[in-house]
Amino acid sequence: MTVFVTGGAGFIGSNYIFYHLAKHPEDRVVCLDKLTYAGNLSTLAPIMNDPRFRFCKVDICDREAIYGLFEEEKPDAVINFAAESHVDRSIENPSIFLETNIIGTSVLMDACRKYGGVRYHQVSTDEVYGDLPLDRPDLFFTEQTPIHTSSPYSSSKAGADLLVMAYCRTYGLPVTISRCSNNYGPYHFPEKLIPLMIINCLHDKPLPVYGRGLNIRDWLYVEDHCKAVDLIVRGGRIGEVYNVGGHNEMRNIDIVRLIVRALGKSEELITYVADRKGHDLRYAIDPTKIHEELGWLPETKFEDGIQKTIRWYLDHPAWWEEIISGEYQNYYRDMYQQRLEDSAAANEVKR
Ligand code: NAD
Ligand code: TYD
Repeated sequence: MTVFVTGGAGFIGSNYIFYHLAKHPEDRVVCLDKLTYAGNLSTLAPIMNDPRFRFCKVDICDREAIYGLFEEEKPDAVINFAAESHVDRSIENPSIFLETNIIGTSVLMDACRKYGGVRYHQVSTDEVYGDLPLDRPDLFFTEQTPIHTSSPYSSSKAGADLLVMAYCRTYGLPVTISRCSNNYGPYHFPEKLIPLMIINCLHDKPLPVYGRGLNIRDWLYVEDHCKAVDLIVRGGRIGEVYNVGGHNEMRNIDIVRLIVRALGKSEELITYVADRKGHDLRYAIDPTKIHEELGWLPETKFEDGIQKTIRWYLDHPAWWEEIISGEYQNYYRDMYQQRLEDSAAANEVKR
């Protein structure tokens, strides 16, 4: 089987490709990635010479190039990880999110329709359900929870999900969708909470916690997500949505404290800064459907996964140092400098 993996130079896509090649040695994997700021070819270096693997630098919105690759490779399945994925960036500049996440998804599905017989899987997010209140720990997102988004990012992902279901009903395209909670693990881009806190800790830099750090995310080790996607692509029912999550809810502040402790740093680095606009309060997945239908359960306990992740960042400084030395510096300044200055000024007034 030949599988197209889009966004395979990013965090989850690259982990997925490694998982897929190990689990299905007979398959061929073609990675389609535009190499935006979030894509890193160095991540894929260990498999670049593997005859079962091909890397193509391509924008999923580029219809002609995508059709050309379908004609050449005749894929049996497409797994679409490619996306603009960072909520904070979507708040600053929504348009690229609409372009890649919605238009890109439609181009890939049009190609599947044109060439026929291609299974299409959309990697979506629990963020399409909006958020849950902090004082109702009994509530969880199920596949029946209405779509109710908060950010331009989650709205663009929800738009894509609706299109995927529409292509299934209107054109009979064999699709599936997975909606996963927050992932963590190796190759996570440094703009996201866990790698950002690890890297800032290592540099003794302030740890910018939005609001009071009480927002809750449901964390899943990335390899567990990869296993779920593979099971859905092979055995999931056509036209169905599967929620993927690990019943591992944590408050942001508790994650940051855990990282500080693990790295032997001082909690004085923790700096409360202005909250994210429209900040979702709590995400929590009910994974009953994927468990009952496909036998999936998360295998990595958070205590182990977070230690493995911290170890990975300690052991691979070259990977993230290269990223944070470039354009990332401008991003970091634009996103955090004012917030950190305001927070320092407010603390000064209190004293
Ligand atoms: P990421 O930002 O690390 O990687 C995205 C990849 O897509 C990059 O390699 C980038 O170069 C590529 N890309 C972006 N625009 C492209 C385009 N127009 N054409 C081709 N390639 C393009 O993202 P991630 O965290 O690995 O997320 C992967 C997918 O999983 C996304 O669809 C995201 O919405 C979803 N998801 C992520 C999480 C999470 O916790 N990270 C949770 C649930 C769902
Ligand atoms: P993030 O990793 O951006 O994922 P998402 O927004 O998709 O859940 O953020 C996870 C949580 O951490 C979210 O509640 C926002 C918070 N956060 C901070 O407090 N400080 C930060 O610098 C970042 C990047 C996130």
